[in-house]
Amino acid sequence: MTEEIDWAALRAVAVDAAAGAYAPYSRYRVGAAGLVDDGRVVSGCNVENASYGLTLCAECGMVSDLHRTGGGRLVAVTCMAGPEGAQPAPGSPCGRCRQLLFEAGGGALLVDTAEGVRSMDELLPGAFGPSWLP
Ligand code: THU
Repeated sequence: MTEEIDWAALRAVAVDAAAGAYAPYSRYRVGAAGLVDDGRVVSGCNVENASYGLTLCAECGMVSDLHRTGGGRLVAVTCMAGPEGAQPAPGSPCGRCRQLLFEAGGGALLVDTAEGVRSMDELLPGAFGPSWLP
């Protein structure tokens, strides 16, 4: 599966998305791009707020784009991140975003990290998810 994914193309979409980030407070731009099981590519960027805790991560925007454009399951995701003015590099989804990604792609979802491609099962072991609910 990993070898069928065009990670370079996905990273390019994420870098493009990061250029649209609204990050006047942290000046840390993040772009997320995801490959959907029907071949679509969805994306999002971080959107900060003067009330800092309301910040939306790039993965949030990407998951919104997933549902906005028809739903489906994420199969591969990359987050390209870095300080304003620097070349974005693969970042690490925060804990809340790991939970969001797990919901949208499950344990088999592949995530591009600075340490290489990892599954959500590796990034969020023992995850809480839909299967826990009655
Ligand atoms: N950020 C993301 O967009 N995704 C993550 O998974 C980690 C953090 C954003 C939020 C904030 O705008 C900036 O990075 C610094 O925390």
